[in-house]
Amino acid sequence: MDGTKGHGLRNVASHCSISDMDDYDISKLLEKPRLNIERQRSFDERSLSELTISLARGLDSYEPSYSPGARSGRSGFDTPASSARNSFEPHPMVADAWEALRRSLVYFRGQPVGTLAACDHASEEVLNYDQVFVRDFVPSALAFLINGEADIVKNFLLKTLLLQGWEKRVDRFKLGEGAMPASFKVLHDPDRKTDTIVADFGESAIGRVAPVDSGFWWIILLRAYTKATGDLSLAETPDCQKGMRLILALCLSEGFDTFPTLLCADGCSMIDRRMGIYGYPIEIQALFFMALRCALSMLKHDQEGKEFVERIMKRLHALSYHMRNYFWLDFQQLNDIYRYKTEEYSHTAVNKFNVIPDSIPDWVFDFMPTRGGYFIGNVSPARMDFRWFALGNCIAILSSLATPEQSAAIMDLIEARWEELVGEMPLKICYPAIESHEWRIVTGCDPKNTRWSYHNGGSWPVLLWLLTAASIKTGRPQIARRAIDLAETRLLKDTWPEYYDGKLGRFIGKQARKYQTWSVAGYLVAKMMLEDPSHLGMISLEEDRQMKHVIRRSHSWTV
Ligand code: GLC
Repeated sequence: MDGTKGHGLRNVASHCSISDMDDYDISKLLEKPRLNIERQRSFDERSLSELTISLARGLDSYEPSYSPGARSGRSGFDTPASSARNSFEPHPMVADAWEALRRSLVYFRGQPVGTLAACDHASEEVLNYDQVFVRDFVPSALAFLINGEADIVKNFLLKTLLLQGWEKRVDRFKLGEGAMPASFKVLHDPDRKTDTIVADFGESAIGRVAPVDSGFWWIILLRAYTKATGDLSLAETPDCQKGMRLILALCLSEGFDTFPTLLCADGCSMIDRRMGIYGYPIEIQALFFMALRCALSMLKHDQEGKEFVERIMKRLHALSYHMRNYFWLDFQQLNDIYRYKTEEYSHTAVNKFNVIPDSIPDWVFDFMPTRGGYFIGNVSPARMDFRWFALGNCIAILSSLATPEQSAAIMDLIEARWEELVGEMPLKICYPAIESHEWRIVTGCDPKNTRWSYHNGGSWPVLLWLLTAASIKTGRPQIARRAIDLAETRLLKDTWPEYYDGKLGRFIGKQARKYQTWSVAGYLVAKMMLEDPSHLGMISLEEDRQMKHVIRRSHSWTV
């Protein structure tokens, strides 16, 4: 079955123009908590003006964010448009990265539909790295979109949409209709000259957990495609509208919840093994928020869409309030929790989740700078997971789940704790690692997730693109520049590892794949975005209309 065929893409009159895409002004809905952040007013003027120009040019104008010339007359294997446009010599790594990225392309009946997770031919164990992972494809997709190669992204979106339509079972249990696969694999039969696809919805994954993040990434990518190309017709097809509604139906369904956050099993996202992130992990909550906002900008206000638009608005309102208040931690908040009384009953309770101050881990008192803050890993009854997670915090910035003050504070913290969070290779997936007895209990003695390795405090080059995007959005490109410089000292030489180990991220990960595609693509996206920050618009949502022309000055390094 070739998914791209059944979708007669109509060029219908759009229900909203591209300039309206993000114009659902939810800012009025979102209440801002009071923050105790004292800000200093110093900034690198040079980079501010650079950024202002780029922002004025692209971010707010809703123009397609690449130059149309990038596409003309190019085959898929030409010089990347981005480096061709450079006025300066591109870093030698860029060409190698493009080559590696193209080598990872997966074809279905002659059409590129995604990229392999890794092309590590030296590794004997392939496991499932020879598949196209939905989450792993996101940085590849952004790189292709920036480079004016939107077709592969469209093919991927349509192919995964078809997979969503499959009946999904684990043993005798049928999964929700909206579930998107974690990954899929194309099987080529050279004799019969046929291609078939097998997908994994969690039933083959280690731990049998469904990827909650896949559906969110799908929606986010659909918006990125729409923003980058200006092609509204894909998102408007009945199939895409239905795909979105099915994902939304899964995550907006009513249950026994008292929180607007989404209850999840351990391992349901990028961290796809037991790591104590069950409950309400920040990664999922931030992606949930972003996907809701993206869906809001693309859903039609027809009979079926309207109901979802209303539910999304209500959920965004409640979710942002909850996250901004209860997940946020800064010096002041930590001090308040430290002094919490417990066993408070009734609506006047200050310590709403009955967190016992003795459960605050020692490390957090040293880790918390006087200025700066972050969204903690998880909040549920009597449990706050104080660990810092990179993806959730960056997505909170990009989606404007974080207020501008909180966004700046997250970047302040990254600067203040550079050694811990960036060290020698950007960026720690989470901080700190769990060790000894706690590691035994939390991970179930997972030998891959030993302290400072892999998901347990390992450093993941793919996160570079998220750090870069967040740095640009907060007006602090110097942070990205410094991180990219670090990555450039090692990534190519080490042949693009999946992750690094150790407190500082100095060692290539114990079981890290080489030529890990999202390490390659993450670097390219970071590099191209910093080069031309107007690309940020495809993966970022502004807080509200009024904010559009305001760039906050903030304290940062000067380079
Ligand atoms: C590992 C990672 C997961 C990634 C996959 C493919 O399982 O934990 O996040 O999607 O590899 O690269």
